[in-house]
Amino acid sequence: MARRTCEPVSGVVAEARRVYQETFGGSAGVAVCAPGRVNLIGEHTDYNQGLVLPMALPLVTVMVGSKTSGQSCSVATTAESADEPRKVDFDLPTDTAPLIRVEPAWANYVKGVVQHYRARPLPAFKAVIASNVPLGGGLSSSASLEVAVYTFLQQLCPDDGDKVAKALACQQAEHTHAGMPCGIMDQFVSVLGKEGHALLIDCRSLEASAVPMADPDVVILITNSNVRHSLTGSEYPSRRKQCEKAAAILGKSSLREATVQDLEDAKDRLDSETYRRARHVIEEIERTARAAEALRGGAYQEFGKLMVESHNSLRDLYEVSCPELDALVTAAMDVDGVFGSRMTGGGFGGCTVTLLQAEATERAMKHIEGRYSGCPTFYITTPSEGARVLSV
Ligand code: GLA
Repeated sequence: MARRTCEPVSGVVAEARRVYQETFGGSAGVAVCAPGRVNLIGEHTDYNQGLVLPMALPLVTVMVGSKTSGQSCSVATTAESADEPRKVDFDLPTDTAPLIRVEPAWANYVKGVVQHYRARPLPAFKAVIASNVPLGGGLSSSASLEVAVYTFLQQLCPDDGDKVAKALACQQAEHTHAGMPCGIMDQFVSVLGKEGHALLIDCRSLEASAVPMADPDVVILITNSNVRHSLTGSEYPSRRKQCEKAAAILGKSSLREATVQDLEDAKDRLDSETYRRARHVIEEIERTARAAEALRGGAYQEFGKLMVESHNSLRDLYEVSCPELDALVTAAMDVDGVFGSRMTGGGFGGCTVTLLQAEATERAMKHIEGRYSGCPTFYITTPSEGARVLSV
């Protein structure tokens, strides 16, 4: 069975160091890592100023490297599936020559963060990136890369240490250099994640509260469908636009300000698709608040029920699920001891997240694998710490 507990961070660091030695000679002076995330509930609410409840994963992107003299930076990746070339050179940006988006795609995340980094003057550097966050699997491999790069740059040229501003700069990098108009959730939790806790993030005030999640009898199981439908490119921005349109028709600055009653009152003025999108967002924000309360009270049954409602809403109203994710959720919900299951992240493939009794874990993985037509990968995870500096 394809299952993984998570490879320890030290293994990823060792790989990065080995490639650094091979590529540049000598050993790196700085090592940092930043985690991927799984969102427990609150999907497609972040860019509507809503609530989200993600946690940082033990899966990380590592960056090791050193300052160099001159203006030219050199960065290599160990990623097998990264588009070629696996090493790129670029000059530090200047006011008249900013870093722009060019192939290979993976390097744009690095350049984007260098461009949006909040302190100057940056020295040139050489570095290697390694990661055990599955690429394109909906666990925020890109946010973990951006936040790792930012954390690395902080070691070379410290900024003011403002963590929210750090997350916002990384989000900006994704907008301008990856062309993905994402919300703030992924970068926020990759920076501010807290071991043993999920984070209830208010994406309007950018405040977060930590919700304890360290019950040894409860497991968070991630199942990677290992499918990715190519729709994501256009579907995400179009959902965002539909939400903005709905908010404008309702006369609100965002859907966070709207109630289901507001939506019902305006139903005649909305086409049915826009209505469904807005309905998901408004209800999902409310569900997320209730889910955080349930989690604080150890009410796992209630939490699980809300997870399934969230999934059904993403499938039927927001239309970002896919048959593979639906099948994984259905299979998980067959199993005794499973509290709830849902797709997580942007959708159209990637992963599901399942909350279950620890004693049901083996049974659940076996059942899901038997029912799923594809080949799933499992991760048994625990809430982990956000980005950090590692000793060298
Ligand atoms: C992607 C984006 C996030 C968020 C989720 C959906 O992961 O990067 O900002 O919008 O989709 O909840």
